[in-house]
Amino acid sequence: MTVQLAPSLLSADFAELGAAVRLVQGGGADLIHLDVMDGHFVPNITIGPAVVRAVRQVAAVPLDVHLMISEPDRYLHAFVEAGAAMLSVHVEALPHLHRTLQAIKALGARAGVALNPSTHPTAIEEVAGEADFVLVMSVNPGFAAQRFIPRTPRKIAAVRALLDAAGNPAPIEVDGGIDTETAGLVTAAGARILVAGNAIFGAADPVGAMRGIRAAAEAAVPATAR
Ligand code: DX5
Ligand code: ZN
Repeated sequence: MTVQLAPSLLSADFAELGAAVRLVQGGGADLIHLDVMDGHFVPNITIGPAVVRAVRQVAAVPLDVHLMISEPDRYLHAFVEAGAAMLSVHVEALPHLHRTLQAIKALGARAGVALNPSTHPTAIEEVAGEADFVLVMSVNPGFAAQRFIPRTPRKIAAVRALLDAAGNPAPIEVDGGIDTETAGLVTAAGARILVAGNAIFGAADPVGAMRGIRAAAEAAVPATAR
């Protein structure tokens, strides 16, 4: 499978998270994406390590934890201990990003660098050899169900070029406004892990929505990259 699908629980019913996890796993989810927000780095507050741990109890696929928080270094250990297999941190929040990536890896998780829409792709240039994945935000982080920012595919291609120049095959993840319309745009540009919240949990048939997003995503992967 060339594309991985990571449903975001941000759009699920928080009173029924276990059911949401089982639903998307039944639909073939490769990862479960969890959005951690602190009301400081982003204007919304969501969940912490306790909820990640609870989801870990019912999840059969790896947890992809997206930290949208200030001073993430203070919480890396807690989130990995709670069950994060992938942990992404925002370049905008970190003066010592290189050190943070090493710290995540030392804890045994895959280290991801996340970029806000207004952050230039070269922000990752000096750590392009260090990241296990790069998360390109296709909306401004903070809320589900926002509109996909059209410049994103250009950004993905630029990030792919930086990773390739560093000899790093790390995948690019894209997050925000992914649906059957936008999935192909981002995989054509080089994204291989797709997060989707509203397009899955807001659909009458979430498993059917997952199938549609995956089909659109895979159909647009260039033949040379399959
Ligand atoms: C946005 C979060 C996303 C969000 C995606 O701040 O990082 O993961 O849940 O939701 P949709 O797919 O609805 O844009
Ligand atoms: Zn996210």
